[in-house]
Amino acid sequence: MTETTKKSAPRSSPVAIAGPSYRKKNAGAKRTREVTQNKDKVKIDEPILPLGDPAKTPLSARFEPPQSHFIASNPPLSAASETIASKGDFQPRVQPMKSRILLSVPHMGGREQSYVAEAFATNWLSTIGPNVTAFEREFGHQVGMPSVALSSGTAAMHLGLRLLGVGPGDEVFCPTLTFVATANPIVYVGAEPVFLDSNREDWNLDPELLARALADRARRNKLPKAVVVVHLYGQPADMDPILAACARYEVPVLEDAAEALGSTYKGKPVGHHSGLAVYSFNGNKMITTTGGGMLSCTNPDWIQQARFWSTQARDNAIWYEHSEMGYNYRMSNVLAGIGRGQLEVLNTRVDQRRSIAFRYRDAFADIPGLEFMPQSPHGIHTNWLSCFLIDEALFGCSRDALISALDAAGIETRPVWKPMHLQPLYRHAESIGGEIAEDLFMRGICLPSSSSLTPVDQMRVITAVRNAAGVACQ
Ligand SMILES: Cc1ncc(COP(=O)(O)O)c(C=O)c1O
Repeated sequence: MTETTKKSAPRSSPVAIAGPSYRKKNAGAKRTREVTQNKDKVKIDEPILPLGDPAKTPLSARFEPPQSHFIASNPPLSAASETIASKGDFQPRVQPMKSRILLSVPHMGGREQSYVAEAFATNWLSTIGPNVTAFEREFGHQVGMPSVALSSGTAAMHLGLRLLGVGPGDEVFCPTLTFVATANPIVYVGAEPVFLDSNREDWNLDPELLARALADRARRNKLPKAVVVVHLYGQPADMDPILAACARYEVPVLEDAAEALGSTYKGKPVGHHSGLAVYSFNGNKMITTTGGGMLSCTNPDWIQQARFWSTQARDNAIWYEHSEMGYNYRMSNVLAGIGRGQLEVLNTRVDQRRSIAFRYRDAFADIPGLEFMPQSPHGIHTNWLSCFLIDEALFGCSRDALISALDAAGIETRPVWKPMHLQPLYRHAESIGGEIAEDLFMRGICLPSSSSLTPVDQMRVITAVRNAAGVACQ
């Protein structure tokens, strides 16, 4: 466990309420509850694991991040987001019966439908329209770069690589620990991925390994055409040494921030540091447009070029004239309306996901063999997904047995991403290191992390994990 994960939160937060001193006082405390099982009434013992009473805790205190993770540029909750959170939180009208707790679900803010309705009312039911224009502008303010709205994060990766001139015969360095959509677009443009290991400090691309690999390639006159950096699960990668190593050999960087909208590195939004970044609005992400993505770049001409490619690369003529390869990658004006509403609540969603992650951390602090994902000292980790590592010998059951136990309790979880160098699709690709990524995959678990996860449902997850730790899983 790293230094930061051990620290407790300020006393005012619910994290502190459920913190070490409280747990010590209540160690082993149990509550007996009567439940109906097969029509019989039975009594079950449950450990008491308070999350704090949300109703009695002011919102600003509830989402206050622990001091060790606090960065002034990302304050707890602004007055504006508090208003949005209390007035506008929109829950689906049809709730599943006894709900299965899912990993990460969409969470509307409340104003999305009015933007969508406007698109219908004005008949802007196309890939152009006021919502697309406004979403790009508003998103651009958020990340500090001109942006183009696309149909997916994968499409944004594809266009980003094309902007860097990656093509057939090139190689691209890419972290092995990621989702397949980071790597596939490298193949779309005819290049080959070379996979690099992560470091244990932040689970992201290891800057020292990268520097050594680039030096080795420079000696062999075989430098990669580009380096892709992923901010995994919302954790900012350590960009300064990564960019320094790449600058030494003039290798450009593309940031895959699909999972990390709202994260910061040294006070600035991730993506800003390389000046070329990709974000995803898939249904499971920090914010969603049901499906969609954004490509952002400090150079407005590059964004204009990507916009051109994303609409079939249609030349300026009254007939359909094409001199370059294009794609149908533009975001629709209807979905951009959802994005506009979602963007208004992004800061709140970041606070909520972080709050959920730290509640897990504190509720599990006394369980041996359950290690919270490290939190980078360089920025704000949104904890898009709350991740833990399991040491089977200490915890009492394996990661897979825990997944099965939680599944039986109606709780969806996932292993940490299976590294690319272990994927059948990429079995022929070169890989530099990989043991750390393999270990994180073998032992890592992602717990339910939806920003809409209620304290009651989170308690269900916590209780199920504690039960699994206390009772050997078969
Ligand atoms: C790391 C990473 N890169 C890229 C993507 C692709 O984004 P999309 O699903 O919007 O195509 C995702 C998520 O889906 C992702 O997790």
